[in-house]
Amino acid sequence: MTAAIQRRLETPEPKNAERTELHPELNRAHVRFIGLGKTYDGRQGPVAALQGIDLAIRHGEVFGIIGRSGAGKSSLIRTINRLEQPTAGRVLIDQVDIGEFDEDRLVALRRRIGMIFQHFNLMSAKTVWQNVELPLKVAGVPKAQRDKKVRELLELVGLQAKHKAYPAQLSGGQKQRVGIARALVHDPDILLCDEATSALDPETTQSILGLLREINQRLNLTIVLITHEMAVIREICDRVVVLEHGRIVEQGPVWEVFGNPQHEVSQTLLAPLQHALPEELQSRLHASPPSSEAAAVLRLQFTGSASDEPDLAALFAALGGRVKLLLGGVERIQGHALGQLLLAVSGSAASAEQLRERAGQWAQRVEVLGYVV
Ligand SMILES: Nc1ncnc2c1ncn2[C@@H]1O[C@H](COP(=O)(O)OP(=O)(O)O)[C@@H](O)[C@H]1O
Ligand SMILES: [Mg+2]
Repeated sequence: MTAAIQRRLETPEPKNAERTELHPELNRAHVRFIGLGKTYDGRQGPVAALQGIDLAIRHGEVFGIIGRSGAGKSSLIRTINRLEQPTAGRVLIDQVDIGEFDEDRLVALRRRIGMIFQHFNLMSAKTVWQNVELPLKVAGVPKAQRDKKVRELLELVGLQAKHKAYPAQLSGGQKQRVGIARALVHDPDILLCDEATSALDPETTQSILGLLREINQRLNLTIVLITHEMAVIREICDRVVVLEHGRIVEQGPVWEVFGNPQHEVSQTLLAPLQHALPEELQSRLHASPPSSEAAAVLRLQFTGSASDEPDLAALFAALGGRVKLLLGGVERIQGHALGQLLLAVSGSAASAEQLRERAGQWAQRVEVLGYVV
């Protein structure tokens, strides 16, 4: 064991008892992690998978967890239904500490918490109907009630016509719909999704996300969702937390974290959503104007902190000269305009500094990247 790990293991967990009293909003949280830690006994010594996690997930929100592979996302989500037992700290569900639950209470807890997985985890020898029915059978629910519930759920996920099919006869999207129906059999109030769309193509992902959104709203279900696909977070999450090496490095509303990521990990994860300067353009860039006809290349970033989309006519008029749109796009997340524009401004009398200042009235960040002829 390295000295660093040893030290971490010996660091006492913060005492959070008083904070429970201090923040009324935290007391209304659906799921709370307090000083949560998880250390595995790995083959080469202890692995600190989670450390000092303090987090509150609200009722009815879609909460995203992102981070690199191995950051601790699955470990964290699995402490909510106690598939993983924390080694430090507490998990509260509706203000109740689940750490002391005996087997019976754990069984009851797990029925209140549905879970879906990347690889669906369906029983291949059972039909769609039987897969959804199984947890009800295990729970001893009478047949008439089981039939009613399975029928309802297959309708909800749009699989009535497939009830006799076996998993091997289904597409990935249909398999995940079975997974969702099965996760909902006990009318849970939390749904955990661990990379639930990661094995699906983009179009199917969209339809599954649509279904999750519908379930979230219709059933008022709290959804906790892990994904490595940032577009998934952008599509359906309300808030997001970024994990790195088992610690929270950033959290906030999706528009805020996506519009203005602070931590290097968040910036790296979100980079694919940004429009990079095309290489061909990059290679033609000069640091200073090579001639009087050269155009200044401006990057305008909209971080979502202004709620309006840019007024292009006003922006172009203020910049003066000819303005060409090179690349860009602005989208809306949670009612905030986010994105960037790459513009080439030529024939303007304004200096780089003036261009920056003028564009700054519309965009939260402006850079002059260089000049092209
Ligand atoms: N059962 C286990 N035994 C030992 N180490 C584990 C176990 N499960 C996870 N880990 C380790 O804990 C860390 C976090 O894993 P995990 O929660 O699966 O991360 P993520 O889901 O973000 O990829 C990783 O270093 C992983 O190798
Ligand atoms: Mg994982």
